[in-house]
Amino acid sequence: MEKDKSIEPFTIVIFGGTGDLSRRKLLPALFHLHQDDEFPGGFSILGIARSKMTDEEYRRLIKEAIQTYHQGLWSENHWEDFSKHIFYLSGPFDEDETYTKLCEKIDQSSISIAQGAKDVIYYMAVPPDSTPVVVEKLRDRHLCRARFHTKIIVEKPFGRDRSSAVELNKVLRDAFDEHQIYRIDHYLGKEPVQNIIFFRFANSIFEQVWNRSFIDNVQITVAEEIGIEHRSTFYEESGVVRDIVQNHILQLIGLVAMEPPIGFEAESIRDEKGKVFRSISSMDEKHIDQFAVRGQYGRGMINGQEVPGYREEENIPPDSYTPTFFAAKFYIENWRWAGVPFFIRTGKRLPKQITEIAIEFKKPPLRLFGKSPDPFEPNILILTIQPDEKIALRFNVRYPYTVSQIYPANMILNYRETFNTASHDPYERLLIDCMKGDLTLFARQDGVEAMWEVVDPIITRWERIPPMHFPNYAAGTWGPPEAGLLMEREGRRWITA
Ligand SMILES: NC(=O)c1ccc[n+]([C@@H]2O[C@H](COP(=O)([O-])OP(=O)(O)OC[C@H]3O[C@@H](n4cnc5c(N)ncnc54)[C@H](OP(=O)(O)O)[C@@H]3O)[C@@H](O)[C@H]2O)c1
Repeated sequence: MEKDKSIEPFTIVIFGGTGDLSRRKLLPALFHLHQDDEFPGGFSILGIARSKMTDEEYRRLIKEAIQTYHQGLWSENHWEDFSKHIFYLSGPFDEDETYTKLCEKIDQSSISIAQGAKDVIYYMAVPPDSTPVVVEKLRDRHLCRARFHTKIIVEKPFGRDRSSAVELNKVLRDAFDEHQIYRIDHYLGKEPVQNIIFFRFANSIFEQVWNRSFIDNVQITVAEEIGIEHRSTFYEESGVVRDIVQNHILQLIGLVAMEPPIGFEAESIRDEKGKVFRSISSMDEKHIDQFAVRGQYGRGMINGQEVPGYREEENIPPDSYTPTFFAAKFYIENWRWAGVPFFIRTGKRLPKQITEIAIEFKKPPLRLFGKSPDPFEPNILILTIQPDEKIALRFNVRYPYTVSQIYPANMILNYRETFNTASHDPYERLLIDCMKGDLTLFARQDGVEAMWEVVDPIITRWERIPPMHFPNYAAGTWGPPEAGLLMEREGRRWITA
């Protein structure tokens, strides 16, 4: 990673340090960053959770987690060095004593920067209802502003709807200033997502045509092959709209649709994304019924294996109405995008794991090659975010030695092949940004609220009117037939297949 700003010595306090996120993502990311020599000034990691453990026992738990989930090379020597920086504190989040001990532990384990103050990052890897509890305790014990230089990383979900997001924010803002709050959406840490802005604004050939005069429609697909795995309680309460649409998909729309920012710093970019979220036309009930599709997977086949339906998963009620699939048509009511439909689609247990943005350009005004038997493909620009990281441009050429047979060809940039690099885990990038004090890739509260405003009417409508035919798609298919019809009745089709 670029070493443009330095990282001061810091302590990262991970509330929920024994949980799934900490074991699968955070500790492996910190281990890898340390391996890459990203923490020159010294650091300590302090896990806090309910389970009773000594520092040594916690280190063993973390070692096992890193060996299981870390993608890179394992080195015992490196682990020995890294593990000396790891500490643990056991204590319930709602007890004052936990925070007295926390203070002592930070003092023992952390390293002062030059002025004697300590840089402390609080990471909220906790169940959503614990975040306010922890933040209020930190505030009451004066652990937010006065005693240390602090930042707080908050994990999604940022509320369950706009009003609870506002409530959560009140708690956060009572304790921290906005510039101390890092609302993390790991999607924004993915390299190809960050590249969307570069691609758009560093290439005048694309920016010239990036508007309603040339673009017919924009499609975003976030498809997951996996089901709900071990996160049934979370998923049952959340559903696909809160889990994926309110954050990841709207963030992608923000990057694709925003105006050029006046600079590359956090506030300029977040200002422009916020304008996009606020310009997405609000869906009334009629529009929701007509242009939004919900689904829930039933039993089906994935990679030749039979998998259970959502209602058959562990801890899911057999009459659950939770949607696992979403497709819809949105419009952005601004000068650039008026009249251009944005089709989005996401779901669990779809045929493959893929995240893709497809920009379909308008067809040429005249069909000069009328005798061609082939259907005429428009130009399509495809930005693939995962699992491959690619940019592909589809354009038409004449098939060799034919009179007028059109052949749709692809020009492809594959990141891995071109740059000979494996992609960094997005958590690594975001942790480093937070340590450096760079908020660009973190959500700002006004944006969070605007994103809830887009999805709240849909969630409310669907929670009020239960679906008639759940489950309505088989695992391993591209969702219910209505998702295809959403396109077909306009003479369009989903490009990602
Ligand atoms: N897991 C993911 O992949 C993922 C992805 C994106 C966002 N997130 C978000 O990250 C957060 C954490 O998720 P998770 O999956 O890691 O949850 P998790 O596995 O349930 O872990 C929760 C952690 O909090 C601790 N904890 C819970 N209640 C406590 C209490 N009252 N006092 C002290 N410790 C307590 C648990 O400690 P004990 O085990 O000792 O009880 C555990 O360390 C959630 O907000 C989630 O939405 C998770």
